[in-house]
Amino acid sequence: MGNIIVGIDIGASKVTTVIGQVNKIGQLEIFGQGMEQCNGVKKGVIVDIESTSNSIRLSVQKAESAAGVKVNSAYVSINGIHTSIVNSRGSISISNDNREISGKDVERVLYAARSINISEDREIIDIIPRQFIVDGYDEIIDPIGMAGLKLEVDADIITGKITSVQNIVKSMERANLKVDGLIVEALATSELAPTQDEKEMGVILIDVGAGVTDISVFRNKNMIFNESITVGGDHITNDVAIGLKIPYSEADRIKKEFELALTTLIKNDQEVTVIDINENKKKTVKVSEIVEIIEARVFEIFSLCKELLEKQKIKGDFAAGIVLTGGGISYVEGCRELANEVFNLPTRIASYKLDIVSKPEYSTAAGIVKYIASHSKGNSFGSEVKNQKQKAQKKEASLLKRILKIFT
Ligand SMILES: Nc1ncnc2c1ncn2[C@@H]1O[C@H](COP(=O)(O)OP(=O)(O)OP(=O)(O)O)[C@@H](O)[C@H]1O
Ligand SMILES: [Mg+2]
Repeated sequence: MGNIIVGIDIGASKVTTVIGQVNKIGQLEIFGQGMEQCNGVKKGVIVDIESTSNSIRLSVQKAESAAGVKVNSAYVSINGIHTSIVNSRGSISISNDNREISGKDVERVLYAARSINISEDREIIDIIPRQFIVDGYDEIIDPIGMAGLKLEVDADIITGKITSVQNIVKSMERANLKVDGLIVEALATSELAPTQDEKEMGVILIDVGAGVTDISVFRNKNMIFNESITVGGDHITNDVAIGLKIPYSEADRIKKEFELALTTLIKNDQEVTVIDINENKKKTVKVSEIVEIIEARVFEIFSLCKELLEKQKIKGDFAAGIVLTGGGISYVEGCRELANEVFNLPTRIASYKLDIVSKPEYSTAAGIVKYIASHSKGNSFGSEVKNQKQKAQKKEASLLKRILKIFT
């Protein structure tokens, strides 16, 4: 089964799996989706391998039975807490008799670009060419087949903390799955949340998850910034629990019942019955009391994002404004207005209705499928998937080798 790609997103609240492919006209086709609650990740870090691998196994099983296949390997997301981007240039001479640039040359130049100094606790997990330069002519997307003497590449080298990478690999292995590659979460999410035009014009993508908010900036289609802060939707729940002195589960329930983050949008400030934390008896609170707490935390999350961009001197034109995604804010009315107030930029919530993804929770896993398909230029970079009768296709062993080959 060629070119079927399996994407797994390990989030703090859930693991999602998407089995799919991108067809000849560039559309994403999904064969199976699976979601399973996850308790093994805290603040974006795997803290319990056993529990994480169980969630992976169950999430994959659900997607497998929907797609009618058996999955042996998958591409997995890694969040911005564990990754960083370094820009690098690689340069080689073309030595073929006819001076025609081949796939092998592209592989060589990408290999040259990866000779950067990285600290001992990090490893390269992805190489993204921004542009190729042939004999001084830049902005070349695909140099294969061109004639030239010198081939250069400007590439983003993505490094990840070795321990974080190992914990992902271990959790996958315990679930009897091999890792095809690691994809930075923001890059995967950006395949579906912002449009190509928005990424070209300049856009800030804010993904509020359970324990982590991921901020990334795209301009001229490239990701120019990606960082994570360790606050997310679960902190909203926590604030509601503490503020109203009610159990966490009760806070989560009412947060999801009202799905509101702006007091000015309250239509009916009714009294709501909740369970008190101490005496386990019931009490009433007003909707405005709940929403006030949510509003303060969402405002703070956006303010922290803004501060981070300012601190890193990410300025300039964000002509396409802000795109919001992630379970922490996607369902909550008023988030758009709050982001607009903080950033003073046009804001929209990513819509997944146009795509086949049924829920925003699947956007990162589905984005992985799209990312791998669009970066492999038609080469077979599928995951190891088989149906009952077929033997699984054998994959190349080295992760880096596959990263390099994906662009050639
Ligand atoms: N209907 C809803 N209303 C408000 N918040 C919600 C709703 N549904 C989910 N959430 C919140 O969304 C958060 C989970 O979002 P998401 O699924 O994007 O996180 P994740 O990817 O698992 O975590 P992370 O990205 O932090 O690793 C939780 O805090 C959850 O309480
Ligand atoms: Mg997430």
